[in-house]
Amino acid sequence: MEEQGYDYGMIGLGTMGRNLVYNMCDHGFSVAGYDKDLSMVDKLKQGIGNYKIVGARSIKELTDALKKPRVVLLLVPAGSIVDAVIDGLKPSLSREDLVIDCGNSHFTDTDLRIKNLAKDNIHFMGIGISGGEYGARNGPSIMPGGSKATYARVSSMLEAISAKANGEPCVTYLGTGSAGHYVKMVHNGIEYALMELIAEVYQLLKQGAGMTNNELHDVFSKWDLGSLHSFLISITADIFMKKDDLTGNDLVDMILDSAHQKGTGAWTTEDAMAIEVPVPVIDISVSMRNLSALKEERNIAETLLLGPGKKINYGKNELVDLLGDALDFSFITVFAQGMELLQKASTVYKYELNLENIAAIWREGCIIRASLLEDIRSAFSTQPNLSNLMLSDVFKDRLISLQEKIRHVACMGIDTGIPLPALMASLAYYDSYRSGWLPDNLLQAQRDYFGAHTYERIDREGIFHTQWNQKES
Ligand code: 6PG
Repeated sequence: MEEQGYDYGMIGLGTMGRNLVYNMCDHGFSVAGYDKDLSMVDKLKQGIGNYKIVGARSIKELTDALKKPRVVLLLVPAGSIVDAVIDGLKPSLSREDLVIDCGNSHFTDTDLRIKNLAKDNIHFMGIGISGGEYGARNGPSIMPGGSKATYARVSSMLEAISAKANGEPCVTYLGTGSAGHYVKMVHNGIEYALMELIAEVYQLLKQGAGMTNNELHDVFSKWDLGSLHSFLISITADIFMKKDDLTGNDLVDMILDSAHQKGTGAWTTEDAMAIEVPVPVIDISVSMRNLSALKEERNIAETLLLGPGKKINYGKNELVDLLGDALDFSFITVFAQGMELLQKASTVYKYELNLENIAAIWREGCIIRASLLEDIRSAFSTQPNLSNLMLSDVFKDRLISLQEKIRHVACMGIDTGIPLPALMASLAYYDSYRSGWLPDNLLQAQRDYFGAHTYERIDREGIFHTQWNQKES
């Protein structure tokens, strides 16, 4: 090795790991990097200027190069690879060393790893990092979980490398155990939903109103200047202007309409179901990726299943205004769902999350960054125990004034047959949530009828069962 006593180790020198190393070095930290693909180790050392970086050619070389107690960050694909890396790393670690998993690991894996490594007095943290390649290099949003004392060992480094929102670092201690990875999972669930909503509006504008990509670029650019200002709206505007190197056509039109996923959206939905929090827009967004992947079936169904023949009955400007308002409305409902999930998870998993802080660190650096998050932050700052964002003084009147608009948009979907599942789920969530009465009395009666599952009454305490006129099943 060229030098001893590096501040941090990084295992996994792919795009995210490498750029995070450079970001750390920008802020004066020294880093030893290792990847089992040694060409990545060589790549790390290319063009590093005056950075204090060393490329290690084995895990042992990496751990030998670090100051003690060591801090080793992992940026490797989630799942069994993380365990394999930890197994490879463990023999070279000592008591009090700290391993930090910065990937998109499932939160239950993180809890298990914390427990297992604690047996050898090795600390473990799960940290969510959002912002892609650009964020890793220039400042991501960072979502750390673990013990408070362990966080204190890395807080100044994380604050230095994180994105800044009005000068405030987009990182803060979130909570114990897997809190960081849980918050990152919900971040991704929200990401799925915002992307689906944008895609539905794109379909209405393109198929329903026949807008060109140039026009679409203008629409999204205009929206990005207003209340919808966000990373996802802004990259969408850019996408419409990109030409394909191979054909010279607009690239977006050359991309297959079949979405892939790595699983974090589905995990959000799964856990929301497990802890019984309604997140219907996130649920439908995961389902729509799955439906989009049925490309061959859809091609057949297109020739067999008929839809309505109606056209959109709005001028382009009026349509753009309506859709902007519908997006505004539905973005709020998505954050309301994500935040309610975090609130419940905080109780169930004892994370003690602070929703104001979470909104604050999502304001910059991450994929779901949006000007809306400043309002969400202020909603939780004034009403920390808010059960649902939709009830906040900040959002209540805004939703009321937008709800008529999204109803017109939902009707457009029904009339034209253009599918708007996430937009409609957003409206249905709002309508269901504001319903003092829902038809679940009937559902309870059915459960009791066929399964003697009992019901509660509106006029007295207790659990009741009725001998209904049982039909043969
Ligand atoms: C981020 C992103 C990042 C990744 C997504 C993609 O916050 O930087 O969310 O984590 O791009 O996980 O997820 P899918 O492949 O499932 O769309």
